[in-house]
Amino acid sequence: MNLTLKIWRQKGPQDKGKMVEYKVTDISEHMSFLEMMDVLNESLVAKGDDPIAFDHDCREGICGMCSLHIDGEAHGPDRGITTCQLHMRMFKDGETVTIEPWRAKAFPVIKDLVVDRTAFERIQQAGGYISVNTSGNTQDANALPISKLNADLSMDAAACIGCGACVASCKNSSAMLFVAAKVSQFALLPQGKVEATQRVLNMVKQMDEEGFGNCTNTGACEVECPKSISLTNIARMNREYLKASL
Ligand code: SF4
Ligand code: FES
Repeated sequence: MNLTLKIWRQKGPQDKGKMVEYKVTDISEHMSFLEMMDVLNESLVAKGDDPIAFDHDCREGICGMCSLHIDGEAHGPDRGITTCQLHMRMFKDGETVTIEPWRAKAFPVIKDLVVDRTAFERIQQAGGYISVNTSGNTQDANALPISKLNADLSMDAAACIGCGACVASCKNSSAMLFVAAKVSQFALLPQGKVEATQRVLNMVKQMDEEGFGNCTNTGACEVECPKSISLTNIARMNREYLKASL
């Protein structure tokens, strides 16, 4: 298939940036979206032009690096997948595809389609961990009984890959779904109880300091999340926050 691509080009953080149009030809419907970007970059390099900077690493939906806003949707038109899992068969021959970086004050553009998401790391460092004693013998498997329901809910929350699509999809650029997933994965397990109070207070404080907006329950984050993280995690985080504040 042949496509017209409108891509955000920005030389650096201080550059104003603009949309630039490119043509790509002979794209296979079996290619991934990032492979299509590779084809474009190879042609740009062959012409001596600057290739388009975009983030990627695992290319199998695990690392959360491939943060592209495609035709106005985080990770493109498909559901429950990352950009690297998006296939060109989702597009039609002759179509124009718009590709932009995540847009949020807390995610400044570094270059072209690459944004700085270290704000997420600072939120994690503020409390997204547990402290356990790892010396000595392995704990008996049945020493800490955990219900199947809570184990499953915790695993679901732990599926968050920190991609930032929730922020990019939210009209307020809220990071509530991300932070709620990171709080919930521990709040549901006995191992997370010890530091529960400080965790939620510190992570929410850091989230606010980073400049993310407030949640107004529009639910766009849940729709666009590649790991289908549920809004119920935000409700759980709010309960944890209220408990900790009291
Ligand atoms: S909650 Fe979903 S969209 Fe947000 S960072 Fe985690 S995986 Fe990405
Ligand atoms: S490149 Fe790792 S999730 Fe897409």
